[in-house]
Order: sequence, then C-alpha cells, then structure tokens
Amino acid sequence: MCGIVGYTGFQDAYDIVINGLRRLEYRGYDSAGIVLEGENNAFDVEKTKGKVDDLVSISSQLKGYAKVGMGHTRWATHGVPSDRNSHPHLSNNGKIAIVHNGIIENYDTIKIMLTDKGFTFKSETDTEVLVNLVQYFMDINSETDFPTAVRYALNEVYGAYAITVMHEDYPGILVVGRLGSPLAIGIGDKEYFIASDASPFVEFTKEAIYLEEGHMATLSLEKGVDIRTIKDNSKIVPEIQELKLNLEQIEKGGYEHFMLKEIFEQPKSIHDTMRGRLLVEEGIIKMAGIWDHLEKFKNANKITIIACGTSWHAGLIGEYLIEEYARIPVEVEYASEFRYRNPIITDKDVVIAISQSGETADTMAALKLAKEKGAFIYGICNVVDSSIARITDAGSYTHAGPEIGVASTKAFTAQLTILSLIALKLGKHNGNLGNAEFMSLIAELNAIPKKIEEVLETTHELTQNIAKDFIGATNFLYLGRGYNYPAALEGALKLKEISYIHAEGYPAAEMKHGPIALIDENMPIVIIAPKKGHYDKIVSNVQEIKARKGKVIAVVNKGDTQVSAMADYVIEIPETSECFSPIVASVPLQLLAYYIAVYRGANVDQPRNLAKSVTVE
Ligand code: AGP
Ligand code: GLU
Repeated sequence: MCGIVGYTGFQDAYDIVINGLRRLEYRGYDSAGIVLEGENNAFDVEKTKGKVDDLVSISSQLKGYAKVGMGHTRWATHGVPSDRNSHPHLSNNGKIAIVHNGIIENYDTIKIMLTDKGFTFKSETDTEVLVNLVQYFMDINSETDFPTAVRYALNEVYGAYAITVMHEDYPGILVVGRLGSPLAIGIGDKEYFIASDASPFVEFTKEAIYLEEGHMATLSLEKGVDIRTIKDNSKIVPEIQELKLNLEQIEKGGYEHFMLKEIFEQPKSIHDTMRGRLLVEEGIIKMAGIWDHLEKFKNANKITIIACGTSWHAGLIGEYLIEEYARIPVEVEYASEFRYRNPIITDKDVVIAISQSGETADTMAALKLAKEKGAFIYGICNVVDSSIARITDAGSYTHAGPEIGVASTKAFTAQLTILSLIALKLGKHNGNLGNAEFMSLIAELNAIPKKIEEVLETTHELTQNIAKDFIGATNFLYLGRGYNYPAALEGALKLKEISYIHAEGYPAAEMKHGPIALIDENMPIVIIAPKKGHYDKIVSNVQEIKARKGKVIAVVNKGDTQVSAMADYVIEIPETSECFSPIVASVPLQLLAYYIAVYRGANVDQPRNLAKSVTVE
C-alpha cells in the first residue's frame, strides 16, 4: 500500500515528485513526505500527516532547485498516521533516506539488534528500522558501498516491500528494490523515474521497466540502470516495455470525482472487456486462456474462486453463472480465510483469482498456496502484468482501464463480464448450454453496454434526488435474491465504504430470519427486484417490509407495477437475462452510494482508512 515516486534527471524534482504523489494518492493518503537533494547534496526533507495538499502547503520553499528526489504517500501499518511516522525516514547519521511501501515483518528483532548497537528510533515504523540497517552495514565495513549495503539489508528482512533509497554521499543515485509490492522504472532521455505505477511519468516517457520480485536496481545518470537479484547480486538484463497508459485515462476528464467518471465509463469498459472475445455474429466466445486449458476446466473436481471485497462479490455471481451454465461445482472463498484453513485443493482443481489491482496480498498468498497444492490457477485481473497476473497459469484481463477511485465500480462490472463469458463458453463446450440458448444469451450480453448507457441517462438525476432524502440515514439494508443477492452485498459495500453509513446486504428471504427486527420507519431498504428472478417472492418480501413501515427503494424493470406500487422510491432499469441483471442493477446502486456520500461531504475517491490496493495482510 502507499505510493512511491522518485526522480533523477534535469527537471524540477519537486514538481515531478509532488505531481506524481497526487496521482498515486489513491494508494494511501494518511501522510505524505518528500526528500530532495539540496545544496551540497544535503537532504531537504518535509513530511506531514494528511494529504499531498497538506505537504504542498508546508513545502513550497523546496520548489525549483533540486534535480533528484523522492516522495511517499502513506497508508499506515506500523504506527499511527503522524508527522513523525511519515516517510521519508532517515538513518541515524542523517545520510540515508528511504521511502517504503509494505511491511517488514521481522522489524522487531532487527530493531532490538540495532538498539543494542546504539541506534535510536524516532518513529514507530518498520521502515525506519530498514534504513538504519542499511547504515549499519556501511558502518561495520567502510568498503561496503551504498547499493551493496541496501542489498545486504534486504537480505536480512522478510515481508513485503517496494523501497527507494537515497544517500547524501551518492548524489544523483536512487537505489530501489521490490518484493511483493509493485515498482516501475520510467526510462526517459537523461532522466529516470520511479513510481508504484506508471501514472506519475506517463507524460514524460512511454518506456518502462517493471522491477521483478526479488530484484533491485541502482539508477544513475552516468551508469544507467543496473538491475541485480537481491539474493546473490546476479546481473539481470532488463525488459523494457512500451506503456499503453495515456494521460487521459488517469485524469478526471471533467468529472468531479474519479468514481463518477468510472461509473460513467462502464458502457465502454464492458464493451472493451468483450471486444475481440464475444463474436456474436459468428456465435463464438474467443478466450485463449480458457480454450487452451479447456480440459482442465471440463475435468475439474471443482472451481474455487478466491478474492477479497468487491472482487469477492463478483466471484459470488461467478458461482451462480458457472454452476448454472457449465454445471461445474464452484466454491467462493475470501482469500484471507482460504489461506489459513488448510483447504482441500488438489491437482484436479481449478482456482480462479479475481483482483482489480492484481496486488492484493491475501489473494496473492492464497494463490501461492493453491499453486503449491497443484491446482491450475486462472486470473481475472485489471492491472496488466500485476503480481497476481504473473503467477497465474492463464487468465483473462478485464479491460476496464485504470480504476483510481478507491471504491471499485467499473472493475466490478468488467469482472462480471469476464465471468459471464467464461460460464457461457464452458457451458457451450461441455454441452450443457444448447445452441439456441447460447446464441440468445450472447446477444443479450452484447446489448449490456447499451443498456448501461440507458441506465446512466435515466437514473443519474433520479439517484441524486433520492440520495438527498437519505443524507441523515444511519443504517441501510440491501436485499436481493439469486444473482442479485451478491449485487445487494456489493451495493451495501459501496455505501458503507464511501458514505460511512452502516449498510448490510442480505438474501431477501433471509430477512425474516433476523434483520427484520431492525425494520421500522427509519430503516431504508434497497431492494433489487427485476422481473426475471423470483419476482413473486420479492413481492412478498416487500410486503413484509411495508407492513413494518420500512422505506423501500426498489430497483425494478421498466414498466413494473407490483413492487413499484408499494415502494417509496422506484428506480427503473431495462430488462435483461437474469444472469446479467446484477451488471445492470449495480449501476444505479453505485450512483446512489456516490451521491449520498457526496451530499454528506465525504471524500468519495479517498474514503477514510482505506486504500486502493491492500498489499498487506
Ligand atoms: C472495493 O470497493 C474495495 N475498495 C475493496 O473491497 C476491493 O475490492 C478489495 O480490496 C479487493 O481488491 P482487488 O480487486 O484489487 O484485489
Ligand atoms: N509499513 C510502513 C509504515 O507503516 C509503510 C506503509 C505503507 O505502505 O505506506 O509506515
């Protein structure tokens, strides 16, 4: 978690670092800091609790002179968000500075060892231990140069990290390393950039090296990029990649928040996710990852879907889809539970990992475990070349484009699109899905982007108006049945994470087994009730709610009468097949959560305590 930016070159390092931190702020935002190579190469450091804007307000004197520097935006793991715990951290002799993303798990033991040797610590972070360990290795042997000392130190620690380190006596040089957290090196003309993702340098260069697990690099304008393995210092020939990212994709493009922009991008992101895969006229779904391993899927004992948060909700819908159309048993597990419960997985199992970021630590660890047990691992990731994408045996990217709002929206609907394609493709190939049904389902799937366009048009203003009535709500229930039960979970998660209103999702029929006790005239209940999918049962559930005076916000199909007649608020969406209805129904729920949060004055793109990718346990 957290964002790291580094620069060595000829431009103003302050500007590059600050602008870069702004782009990476979605990764963590409880404090921010910067260090620059100042006069006589001495470090100039500023850091503060709060956002990048707070950092700017105390650091503008640093603008305009330095050509080398680095910065950090933090998501605290060790020690509260505070000025003291903010990065960069300096070694005891003040000569070495570090910014770090991740966790050093054995920092305690090292801290004791260093304390015994006379080192002192200003912060509670694990990071400060690492920078002092680098100093220690230089202290005990004056022959040890700076990059070597970093390498020695990294060999002593375990956990997850991406780091950038500077040394006052090694001007112009940045040393970086990674294990478990991403780090990209931008290669410009007489300049180098470092960043947690490529967004901070996309307007300066299209050439990048993604540092591999267990590698470190020394960047200097004189000597270029020297990449080595941390373990035994073996030289690595870097693979330079052409960046596909463009500036437009990572800017707000006129929207007030990234989240709103991303909600509105969904017709395109779903279309992009299907492009080249769903060939309606030919009646085929082309997915090389599935096609090349069809036997693995067909003969699988079961498919286990592993994910966290929103991606886990997508997984639940995936379970309904795959079981219905491919008739393969599916289990959906929270990655964090799976990894610690000695799961029964063999080489006859297929494991599907779903992750927007492709960096989620729990998902990654669960996959490693499944891999050890011999399972075939399939990935559904949004970030190309991310750690999860790399360790899978095969996979399909969701082509949703960069998702910057911390609350996932377009990545979720893109995940549902991929899961739909997988289920239909498997169903067709193992003979469970007849040709006529297959053809009608793919035509329906193909029409989803258009339907979402319609939903955006017809519900945008409506959800704003509804939101105004619920600014003061303290609780919400979200109900749905079948495919829309996970959609209810996701609707509730969206609301709680950005508006801080407590919200629960439930299968509608479960309401009477407990949550009904909560219902009174103050309880808003969002109920997803499309025509196809246990509609009559839902009608009864709505009756039960109204009998207890609950306030019903119903998501129904156009022209609905029964539920609409009872509901206090009605949001109409176009009809589609039951299995795709969560894709369509999720959109007004995203808008509703968004506007409630906006009207409550919450920071929608950067909700408190959260960060975009959770690279720690
Ligand atoms: C989504 O709105 C959340 N912020 C969060 O639950 C997220 O879905 C979860 O952390 C999983 O992330 P991933 O998809 O990047 O693995
Ligand atoms: N573990 C470090 C800290 O708590 C780094 C956290 C981060 O990734 O931002 O400061």
